[in-house]
Amino acid sequence: MSVDLTTRIGKLTMKNPVTTASGTFASGMQYAEFFELDRLGAVTTKGVSLEPWRGNEGVRIAESPSGMLNSIGLQNPGVEAFCAGDLAWLSQQDVPIIVNVSGHSVAEFAAIIERLEEEGSADAYELNVSCPNVDSGGMTFGTDPEAAARIMAACRKVTERTIIVKLTPNVTDIVSIARAVVDEGADALSLINTLLAMAIDARTRKAVFNRKVAGLSGPAIKPVALRMVYEVHKAIDVPLIGMGGIVCAEDAIEFILAGASAVAVGSANFIDPLASVKVIDGIERYLEDNSIGSVSELVGALE
Ligand SMILES: Cc1cc2nc3c(=O)[nH]c(=O)nc-3n(C[C@H](O)[C@H](O)[C@H](O)COP(=O)(O)O)c2cc1C
Repeated sequence: MSVDLTTRIGKLTMKNPVTTASGTFASGMQYAEFFELDRLGAVTTKGVSLEPWRGNEGVRIAESPSGMLNSIGLQNPGVEAFCAGDLAWLSQQDVPIIVNVSGHSVAEFAAIIERLEEEGSADAYELNVSCPNVDSGGMTFGTDPEAAARIMAACRKVTERTIIVKLTPNVTDIVSIARAVVDEGADALSLINTLLAMAIDARTRKAVFNRKVAGLSGPAIKPVALRMVYEVHKAIDVPLIGMGGIVCAEDAIEFILAGASAVAVGSANFIDPLASVKVIDGIERYLEDNSIGSVSELVGALE
């Protein structure tokens, strides 16, 4: 039986519902040694800012039971170098590109997208209003519906391409943030970014990370992510990209049943560089085994 894996995220058509979670796949160059990137529904890049960001000093990664903490701090070379390097390379690969965008201000978000529009090779933008690892911008935007809405409105003015807003789980009511950005024209939402967390070294009696707090990802956060995808899907009618702890096809199917039209594989890429393609193959097998003709039939099909 042949099955249809196609999914739509705003104007972006993905040939299968699997992308990579921002910051866990760089721009794919290193992973292209393991598989052809055109297997993916889309590549989502590491976050890009207007100017180069150095990222955080000190420890940046720590393991935790069933997960990992990171405090990268959005290190990236800035949009100019990104366009000349990673984006130029990625646009030669036969795969849709979702560029993840990070700014310290409303104007900065819009300016990055304006620059990327000149290049014209991104298929969609993902606005990271949810990074817990920077002092200004980041998660502070994504925990305030008005601030998130202002960013979305400014970005909507500078592009007609698909805009996805990436939501933080570090809020009590994720639906109100989701609604605020959809009202300003967001085509889709991705969720979740990392959970605010902490690691302490009992031997040194110090926090492991310089900023004390960090972002938790991996299987430990999957139940939280599923609940948030489910809540947003029930309340708002836009495509969702679900992520948080996906390591195998069954995890991905759970997100799709909760209401995700697509999923992203994140921390699992660090354990197995082939994780995302295994998820794609496993979704296909699941559909075949259960005689389901298309993945779209499963979206939100929780009984
Ligand atoms: C090392 C690392 C770097 C990340 N960098 C970004 C980033 O630049 N922009 C962003 O929106 N999310 C970033 N994230 C969050 C992931 O894209 C994803 O939302 C989160 O890790 C949950 O998925 P997972 O449990 O599958 O990893 C990063 C996560 C990790 C682990």
